[in-house]
Amino acid sequence: MQIKAPRGTYDILPDQAAKWQWMEELLKLTASDFGYREIRTPIFEHTELFERGVGATSDIVSKEMYTFRDKADRSITLRPEGTASCARAFIEHGFYNGLLPVKWYYSGPMFRYDRPQTGRFRQFHQFGVEAFGSDSPFLDAEVIILMMEIFQRLGLQELQLHTNSVGCPVCRPQYREKLISYLTPIKDELCQDCQQRYLVNPLRVLDCKNRSCQEAIKGYPLLADSLCSDCTGHYQQVRAGLAANGIEFIHDDKLVRGLDYYTNTAFEVHVPSLGAQSAIGGGGRYNGLVKVCGGPDVPGTGFALGLERMLLAVDQQQNQMPVDVFVIVMENRFMAQALQLTTEIRRAGISADMDYNNRSPRAQMKYADKIKARLAIMIGEEEINQGYYSVRDMHSSEQYQADRDSLIANLPGILFKKEEEQG
Ligand code: HAM
Repeated sequence: MQIKAPRGTYDILPDQAAKWQWMEELLKLTASDFGYREIRTPIFEHTELFERGVGATSDIVSKEMYTFRDKADRSITLRPEGTASCARAFIEHGFYNGLLPVKWYYSGPMFRYDRPQTGRFRQFHQFGVEAFGSDSPFLDAEVIILMMEIFQRLGLQELQLHTNSVGCPVCRPQYREKLISYLTPIKDELCQDCQQRYLVNPLRVLDCKNRSCQEAIKGYPLLADSLCSDCTGHYQQVRAGLAANGIEFIHDDKLVRGLDYYTNTAFEVHVPSLGAQSAIGGGGRYNGLVKVCGGPDVPGTGFALGLERMLLAVDQQQNQMPVDVFVIVMENRFMAQALQLTTEIRRAGISADMDYNNRSPRAQMKYADKIKARLAIMIGEEEINQGYYSVRDMHSSEQYQADRDSLIANLPGILFKKEEEQG
């Protein structure tokens, strides 16, 4: 009998691998622009790390882990996420004694025994960042700004950023009790899952996808009304940090996330057109995590993105790997000069491409539009003889002439200004 890849796993074939490389590169570069450095942790850890870190009552730990005994009878788990492993490494290598905050990023496969469907796999890939050692709401804002910058660079649109504050050990236990008292009399109207979890993990009932649960809890006590003044103030500053950076968000009182370690800020990004699995990323603050993993009381914040879902969204929105500049060659005899200009632009750290298929200038312009180039630079006889280039802003269709000698030096400024104008 033919052996196939296990259910929920798949091969990345060479045609697809180029897209993966492009995306992984973009993620790493963006994170390093924000001062994050790479960490690589093992694919498997002691099961206890996730039980303690992610939380024994979470769906991930109670239902979805790939756990097995190794030959020495230790309980081992294939990592279902990356945050707990980073916390372990942070403690194990004594980073809390050094300069804080410590800012890390990671990328790699994660494993969850979930029911496979479009956008949901048993082996999937995450890119995540974690920042340990600061309680500042502006660091929460920074990680969200970094996440949104990634989407912007991927050319992703139609995103919805949801934010909330899930409180802290001072205010959440009171809210929990309040919610249990609210849910108890209506428990029979809840779905099977929620009937089982409303006493252990009542907050999860809030973001249950089941319509009957959402109907049943219509008048639920708002989480926002139960936050202590510290949590309210913290959340206000996160929002101020986002607003100051032009990041739009939707306050979502029902956003509680599926991992138990969150305190204060929680957020998630959705691409609604992806359907049932629309969350392409999520994260938040986890001030108690390092401590429950056996370290000192050090706060942290971060997020993780699902690479499969991001690639689906990129494909859906027909975003090829977007380039900043497309060089349009007006006549075939100027190919060498066009290639030289393209190379110079690339060497200046700006992405650029050109035509190698003998397309007419008109067809090249159409192509540049299709691949969502931001600027087109034309090169032909006139340009070469007269020492300027014709530049076309592909968004506004505005066309102007730019001095050949200073154009490349000015490109970062032109592209940056364009970004600002487009918000
Ligand atoms: P999470 O929300 O469980 O958070 O996962 C983050 C992202 O991973 C999801 O938004 C989704 O895009 C992707 N993902 C999760 N499960 C699957 C799956 N079965 N198949 C495909 N993609 C999936 C965390 O894992 C936290 N560690 C995030 C974090 C980092 N919080 C703070 N720091």
